Amino acid sequence: MKVILASDHGGINIRQEIASLLEEMNIEFEDLGCHCEGSVDYPDYSIPAAERVAKGEFDVGILICGTGIGMSIAANKVKGIRCALVHDVFSAKATRQHNNANMIAMGERVIGPGLAREIVKSFLEEEYEGGRHENRVGKITAYEEK
Ligand code: RB5
Repeated sequence: MKVILASDHGGINIRQEIASLLEEMNIEFEDLGCHCEGSVDYPDYSIPAAERVAKGEFDVGILICGTGIGMSIAANKVKGIRCALVHDVFSAKATRQHNNANMIAMGERVIGPGLAREIVKSFLEEEYEGGRHENRVGKITAYEEK
């Protein structure tokens, strides 16, 4: 399992928390930043991270900004990316099981570091169920191929 991690200035603290979690879990990861003092534009971090997941360099990506919304919107513009905005453990598990999400986004102004850790753990430990979901996810992929 290889994970890519990225945030804008609004998500630095949770990104660092998740980097520590991945170290504790012995999961290989790359941290794309931002390593910034001032404010940056979230697409400059979420799109490169999403592209590297789409290319297969990483299995999953974790994105953090103030709300998680901008990061998830931008990541979902990349073909092959299914990025879920999640702020609870149930959704983190469900999006892996049902949507085969390959990225999640969270908002540092929405949740705290403890919940963010639980969300990431749940997301990484779950598996895609396939079956009835295959047809549904396949329809998203088919639309992208048009
Ligand atoms: C930055 O102020 C903020 O807009 C950004 O982190 C994010 O919440 C956007 O969706």
